[in-house]
Amino acid sequence: MKLLIKEASLIKKEPEGLETLDVLINGERIEEIGQDLYAPEASIIDAHGKILVPGLVDAHVHFRDPGQEYKEDLHTGSMAAAAGGFTTVIAEPNTIPPIDTPARICHLLDMAKKKSIINFYSKAAITKGLKGNSLTDFIKLREAGAMAFSDDGNPVPGHRLMRKALIKGKQNRILVSPHDEESALYRERVLRKRMKRGKQSFCVEMPYSSPKAGPYTSEAGFIKRDIDLAEETEARLHLSHVSLAQSVDIIAKAKKRGVQVTSEATPHHLLLTERMAKEIGPNAKVNPPLRSEEDVAAVKEGLANGTIDMISSDHAPHSPEEKNRPWEEAPFGVIGLETTLGLVLTFLVRPDILKLYQAIDKMTNIPARIFGLDVLGIGQLRPGIKADLTLIDLNKKWMVEVNHFYSKSRNCPFQGWELYGKAVLTVVGGRIIARDGVIVSGNQ
Ligand code: DOR
Ligand code: ZN
Repeated sequence: MKLLIKEASLIKKEPEGLETLDVLINGERIEEIGQDLYAPEASIIDAHGKILVPGLVDAHVHFRDPGQEYKEDLHTGSMAAAAGGFTTVIAEPNTIPPIDTPARICHLLDMAKKKSIINFYSKAAITKGLKGNSLTDFIKLREAGAMAFSDDGNPVPGHRLMRKALIKGKQNRILVSPHDEESALYRERVLRKRMKRGKQSFCVEMPYSSPKAGPYTSEAGFIKRDIDLAEETEARLHLSHVSLAQSVDIIAKAKKRGVQVTSEATPHHLLLTERMAKEIGPNAKVNPPLRSEEDVAAVKEGLANGTIDMISSDHAPHSPEEKNRPWEEAPFGVIGLETTLGLVLTFLVRPDILKLYQAIDKMTNIPARIFGLDVLGIGQLRPGIKADLTLIDLNKKWMVEVNHFYSKSRNCPFQGWELYGKAVLTVVGGRIIARDGVIVSGNQ
């Protein structure tokens, strides 16, 4: 089966611009890229005026499978990804049970083969049960397929344990990607420690629990600690969803010193403020929380100048019933797979905060390289590799309507926003799986 994509605009870096080319796909692979390609037996796609990029990669998603399939599952999550232009995702390990043993990751990857219509990879937990007490078996988990290690939802509370994780990572070329954010688990630990020391009256506030609450800064503290440890151990470190100006500053300085640190930002931390969160309500409740205008500006600038390497959605589905609770009781998290591309194109590329090529790099080859998927050809567009491709109409105007989403959940803070730019074709392994945002083929 051959597919010939005619007259697509491919992104060119030097000199910067677009080049009109044809792409011939034979079976699973890209066979040829060139001008006036001819293949009478191929199905033809007219891509005139559209941008063809490597299939988008989202290295931070939650598919809630196993354990909370009422929020999302491997099939619906993968459909949401495909509709949004993503051909590869890396899921977080905070499923129920968490992905902290080789048997669990093997089972998950087996399930994904049956249920996911895109390339599905997973991270594994840094600590057993995501509890912050003892490390998982990094080597066995990596052998079983873990792409990186993360305790999503919790920082690694102990300095010594984090140091140990980074040393293990360094020795075995494994990427440690902590969640440097305050969490209930972390709070409890601090409280317990203080109680032990006889400071019963001490009360740790939980500022993120209310939009009325004051500043919340432990992210920068954890980031500084983890960067210092990465510097000392010479390990690689990837920081999830950076949200504070102070964090951006710490990362920029560390990069200048040569620390092997990379980081990511989400569309919500790039585009929404804490003030907007108050208006939107629990659908904008997320951890790390939405911040001040100054923080948002610093995260944007960090993304543009390379301090922040890549974009990820942190697609974190929760049911309408859970998100309809009062702010204090609603869970943290927003969905993002079906809006990320449109938001990035509308609010970062159109106003020239990012060049088109930078935005696409940050959603394709950069995450692929950081998470070691580049060796499979993921995030690239060249002959010989698996044909994972996304065709984008930059001028397509559309409105975010959560009721049209493939995700099972509706917790999107961008409902009703008008966006420009959408994936009009998503191809995985040479097969068209989504066209104009509609899933046309799948393995279920
Ligand atoms: O907003 C968030 N949602 N932050 C986290 O750290 C966890 C995530 C989730 O799993 O829902
Ligand atoms: Zn997450």
